[in-house]
Amino acid sequence: MCGIIGIVGNKSVADRLVDALEKLEYRGYDSAGIATVSQGELDRVRACGKLVNLKQKLKETSLSGHCGIGHTRWATHGVPSEVNAHPHSTQRVAIVHNGIIENHETLRQKLMAKHHHFESLTDSEVIAHLLDDYLQQGDSPEDAVRKARKELVGAFAIACIFHGHDDLMIVAREGASPLAVGLGQEENYVGSDALALSPFTDQLFYLEEGDMAILSSGSVELWDSEDKKITRSTFQSQVSVEAISKEGFTSFMEKEIHHQPQVVEATLASRLDDNGQIKPSGVDWNAIDRVTFAACGTAFYAGMVAKYWFEKIARLPFEIDIASEFRYRMPPLSANGLCVIVSQSGETADTLAALEYAKSQDQTILSIVNVPESSIERVSDITLQTLAGPEIGVASTKAFTTQLAMLATLAIEAALARQVITSSQALTYIEELRQVPSLMHLAMGKDHVIRTLSKKLATMSDTLFLGRDINYPMALEGALKLKEISYIHAEAYAAGEMKHGPIALLEDGYPVIVIAPKDSIVEKTASNVQEALARGAWVIAFTDAPHIFSGCDYIEMPESTLLQSPFVSAVLIQFLAYHTAQEKGTDVDQPRNLAKSVTVE
Ligand code: M6R
Repeated sequence: MCGIIGIVGNKSVADRLVDALEKLEYRGYDSAGIATVSQGELDRVRACGKLVNLKQKLKETSLSGHCGIGHTRWATHGVPSEVNAHPHSTQRVAIVHNGIIENHETLRQKLMAKHHHFESLTDSEVIAHLLDDYLQQGDSPEDAVRKARKELVGAFAIACIFHGHDDLMIVAREGASPLAVGLGQEENYVGSDALALSPFTDQLFYLEEGDMAILSSGSVELWDSEDKKITRSTFQSQVSVEAISKEGFTSFMEKEIHHQPQVVEATLASRLDDNGQIKPSGVDWNAIDRVTFAACGTAFYAGMVAKYWFEKIARLPFEIDIASEFRYRMPPLSANGLCVIVSQSGETADTLAALEYAKSQDQTILSIVNVPESSIERVSDITLQTLAGPEIGVASTKAFTTQLAMLATLAIEAALARQVITSSQALTYIEELRQVPSLMHLAMGKDHVIRTLSKKLATMSDTLFLGRDINYPMALEGALKLKEISYIHAEAYAAGEMKHGPIALLEDGYPVIVIAPKDSIVEKTASNVQEALARGAWVIAFTDAPHIFSGCDYIEMPESTLLQSPFVSAVLIQFLAYHTAQEKGTDVDQPRNLAKSVTVE
């Protein structure tokens, strides 16, 4: 989850390292640091908190050198502090690390017995001392990295620079921690993703599992996991740095909420041919008897919505699981089945591991990812790219609704292929999807009403979200959005479950948010709401049937169908969370303790 950048070239690197870290801050933002080597001497500056603190320190202490590494941290071992911030260094080496060293305690004890002095509580610092130990014994930097990496257990991407070597950087990768090498003119680079490298070069390759590379300003040499010298072909990255701006909005999240109609439209358009029919995804829908789905967080809730679509529209069983459970549950999967994997970043460690498990069970992997050139895309059989564009806010908004758009088209494609619906029914569903961007615009018109309700919600410490059927995952997503950016405790239940436990929480004024677009069972939800009102709850209903929600505060939704309503309610729950967080003054783009790309288990 941490962000890594490295430059080895022929001009000063410090400012450029910091600029690149700005693009990586989405990976973690509890501390940051850079180290350079200049005239053989290693030097570093680190700061706790966001990058702005590092920039401030660098005004007082500048770092020279043409070779350097930088890091933005998401804490795993050791609290966010300057001392735990990367780069970690000894007299002989400075390193940055993304991942987890699982045997760090054993290594630490061993190195301490050899008089290595540790200053931090991180697992990463052992890498620096382990390298130092080999260097002390007279090994070259190259041999030291080669030997040290064999002792490290876990997942890691590392970049190292060395005392006495102004034109040398060694990088290595093991496990689910991506590392891209960028090739430039008399300068070479390494970064956690293509975005960080985009200001410098578009010629890249990714390190594969077990790769080690030696970079200088004029060359890049590469060895694979068997220590065989190899080359990997570069590709031209399409990732552009231009797209990253708030465009006048107060936060990325606000911008990303407002951009949804256009990115959903673009994503839908990418799935339609000139005749307005859904393009084949490449899946043989008649060869499978069920779909298996795995993802994390909001992407999992997108799958949960899709379950209702696939089962109701395509009559195809759709089994879902949270990727971190799926990977260890080891479910039996039917031969030659289809596994759908969804991830905004395409890097989530648990999702990637779930994918690997499904692959080992001979499943065809269809992934839906937003970030192009990601790890998940690279190992999938079929990838459909959502066209949300870079999502910078940690809370998933436009990534979620574009994932829904992709999944909806797949459900229609499956239904038609399996002859569960006719072509004309398919066209009706497609027409419903075409209306989604306008419905989202209409939902955005409710912004001011939601803002008023949010003032009161911001004073609460607990909330309960309810919904039935396809609105149940939307209730879960609403609770996730609210808790992650406003830090208000939020739980979500299927409305029918309230009486089986959570009703005990209700008392005068307790906030209950119910997602209840008009459908065949909306009156059942209305009955549950009456049960909540009878116990004094303050109920906010998102509905297009306000007459059956008397006694509630309500946000009137535009009328919508089974395919459309999740998009509409997504906008409303996002605004509710957003305005509540604004009211509380929390940082919506970089909420505490979170990171945009979760590359550890
Ligand atoms: O990049 P991914 O879609 O794989 O990320 C999965 C989750 O970490 C992510 O959706 C997370 O739950 C969001 N921050 C929620 O808003």
